[in-house]
Amino acid sequence: MTAENPQTIYLKDYQAPAYLVDHVALEFDLHPTATRVRSTLKFRPNPDSSNSEFFLHGENLTFLSAYINGAAVTPIMSDAGLTCNVPDGPFIWQSEVEINPSANTELSGLYMSNGMFCTQCEAEGFRRITYYPDRPDVMAPFDVTVRSELPYALSNGEPMSSDGTTRRWQDPWPKPAYLFALVAGEFQVVSDHFTTASGKPVDLNIYVRDGDQDKCDFALEALKASMAWDERVYGREYDLSVFNIVAVDDFNMGAMENKGLNIFNSSAVLASPETTVDGNFERIEAIIAHEYFHNWTGNRITCRDWFQLSLKEGLTVFRDQQFSADMRGAEVRRIEDVTALRARQFREDSGPLAHPVRPESFVEINNFYTATVYEKGAELIRMLKLLVGDAAYKEALELYFARHDGQACTIEDWLAVFTDVTGQDLRQFKLWYSQAGTPIVRVRDHFADGTYELTLTQVTPPTPGQPNKQPLVIPIALGLLYPDGTEALATELLVLSDAEQSFCFSGLRAAPIPSLLRGFSAPVILQRKTSPAEHLVQLTHDPDLFNRFEASRELGKSALLAMLQTEAAPDDAYCTALLQVMVNEDLDPAFRAMCCTLPSQDEIAKTLTEQGQTPDPVAIDAAFHRLSEHVARQGQDALRALYHAHQLAGPFSPDAASCGARALSALALRLISYVDGGTLAAKQFATATTMSLQLPALGNLNRHAQGSEAISQFYQQWRNERLVIDKWFSLQVSTCPASQAVSVARNLLQHPDFTLKNPNRFRALVGALAMTPAAFHQADGSAYALVVDQLIALDDINPQLCARMTTVFETWRRYDGARQELMRAALCRLAAKPNLSRDTKEMVTRLLDA
Ligand code: BES
Ligand code: ZN
Repeated sequence: MTAENPQTIYLKDYQAPAYLVDHVALEFDLHPTATRVRSTLKFRPNPDSSNSEFFLHGENLTFLSAYINGAAVTPIMSDAGLTCNVPDGPFIWQSEVEINPSANTELSGLYMSNGMFCTQCEAEGFRRITYYPDRPDVMAPFDVTVRSELPYALSNGEPMSSDGTTRRWQDPWPKPAYLFALVAGEFQVVSDHFTTASGKPVDLNIYVRDGDQDKCDFALEALKASMAWDERVYGREYDLSVFNIVAVDDFNMGAMENKGLNIFNSSAVLASPETTVDGNFERIEAIIAHEYFHNWTGNRITCRDWFQLSLKEGLTVFRDQQFSADMRGAEVRRIEDVTALRARQFREDSGPLAHPVRPESFVEINNFYTATVYEKGAELIRMLKLLVGDAAYKEALELYFARHDGQACTIEDWLAVFTDVTGQDLRQFKLWYSQAGTPIVRVRDHFADGTYELTLTQVTPPTPGQPNKQPLVIPIALGLLYPDGTEALATELLVLSDAEQSFCFSGLRAAPIPSLLRGFSAPVILQRKTSPAEHLVQLTHDPDLFNRFEASRELGKSALLAMLQTEAAPDDAYCTALLQVMVNEDLDPAFRAMCCTLPSQDEIAKTLTEQGQTPDPVAIDAAFHRLSEHVARQGQDALRALYHAHQLAGPFSPDAASCGARALSALALRLISYVDGGTLAAKQFATATTMSLQLPALGNLNRHAQGSEAISQFYQQWRNERLVIDKWFSLQVSTCPASQAVSVARNLLQHPDFTLKNPNRFRALVGALAMTPAAFHQADGSAYALVVDQLIALDDINPQLCARMTTVFETWRRYDGARQELMRAALCRLAAKPNLSRDTKEMVTRLLDA
């Protein structure tokens, strides 16, 4: 957005609120099309503000009445809210508004989903419920009264007296309005208990639609594990007598941390062996933990303004990553987290949407819930911990909680606790929060007379609005290996803070192979000319499993690049090495599965771009299949043995070891399907009793043109399980031959189960097409056109989701002139839609401008 755009909000313009709220009382008369909301707010002028203008946010509200200290007033109304003359000292504001939850398809504010009332207030949805200073630095205790005939009506905090159709809730903890929640409907409840470290009992409840009550056990276990973990690792106890979770089908995000009343997308909480795949179990465990952890990092200590979003999200992602590492194995989880970081955040950081972890301006804050704010934000905390050490990290967090409990804070507050505990000057480190782009670290090295000299240089490429970059503090965990694979140097931490720095290691008996950036110690792109022989040593001997994975990935990239650039045959040495790792019973099966999965097609496209070439997604897809087939032919017998050796007997369990075994046998099956025409996959499909076996079998059948009957059979079996039907939509588009994907998607758009109103369903179909590179980038532009047609239809219904989905175009400048022109034209068509939402407009402008 250009600087003169009047709607742009800047970090530098922050001003403290003119009025503070000491207490909130809300009364709801629920009605699907005409809900009444009465609010009674105790205001007082903020002693820290010189501003006395009284402004309340309000959007899409039908104003009925307002009173100050009991006397009727007539506020001045605008699209964004109201202003009013108010007394000099404290006063009581009352207002009544009417809202229409049934008409709310944006899923922000109070809306209906399957006959239930539910709310989503982060970031700025509360202003669609009542007039309020809807900003996170205004915190107040809330009292909520709900009148409704429905069997359940829930809100934040503790349940109070309830008589018949009137229920009261009281939340004693001051909170910003974005953490308000209300849910009402007919539910089944699954309950459990937790006793906190200091002996306080907590009731745990999950509220779901009838029919889903058998899919709550896993989430309840994850919740109890999260509560115990936060006590043990961070010393954080829960602070209410009840913790409620509600599953809703129509939800823009994964889940939301409302105080005492978390609301979850049903896909992020419901799980059963029959309907849920291993990856879903992992995700559910992580999201339950994430939202629970927000109780301290987000709710008790919140953000001063939305520019500080990473203060709560980066920290909470880091905490949920630590939790998952403890639950499921640190090394394997780290590989998964880094793979996701590269696929989403590096991609964002290298394109037109690149922005700092703490952005300096925005038009629509919902457009900044990004991989950069979340995942890169978490990486910054991981680096801080590495730089100060575990003990100082722990002390700094203690200080953070003690100093800032009950406050709305900034990134400065966060860094100050580290400075105060360690005495370290973190001014250069702080650049990580303001400088966008992924640093490139280049490595030169030299060995003579027993001394190894390593020279590291760093450069961060320009990003939109930031042409010049400064050197960052980059922690680089390093080990050295001898060519025979023995260790020459155990892991040591180098800190790169200049544009170029050299490090020397003496007393070595041979030229070592550097094992750099162990555990991915910093979110950077590492470049070193490493020979295949060196990679092979790392792949088989590096004590750091992450770098074994890296070696495999680099070899895989080289093999694919050679096939694309020189029409080379698939690299036999690579295939052999891969098969050796796959059958190496000394290694964790989960690790083997990751290490032996080819690098993603998008990663190949990005690597080509970095080398100044133009990727052809269709050619990449073809090379990918050829290489897979080559591995399969070379390793047929081994793969079959591997497949059978990792079949599990006994009842299904989603624990890490079982998931690892299934991942490895799924990889074997996927490869075998290239050579057996789908026979083994058909057998697995026919006998599968769990989704973790059924779904990948179906994918393989479809990939090898054996799927059509199985696809209809699968639909008949699961037509009443909406989360499984989402998988059914996705799979057809993502596993069919890329050239057919658009016509498959077009047919599915006509299916009676497709709807633009459910975000999960929209992502399942349209998202799957856009995220399958060879399908999306068909040379005729037909997929671009299909996606934009759907976005144009979606924008009126759900602008947030539409804006988020435009990111599928963020790499458009990577491709050839013809494809660029087709994508640009598609984006321009979206930009030209009458009444385009502010959300989508900001995104399209950024995509096209930069
Ligand atoms: N606070 C967010 C949910 C949210 C995001 C609400 C954007 C409104 C706008 C929540 O804590 C969150 O981050 N959820 C993530 C999952 C998490 C595991 C990273 C999500 O919903 O994807
Ligand atoms: Zn979060």
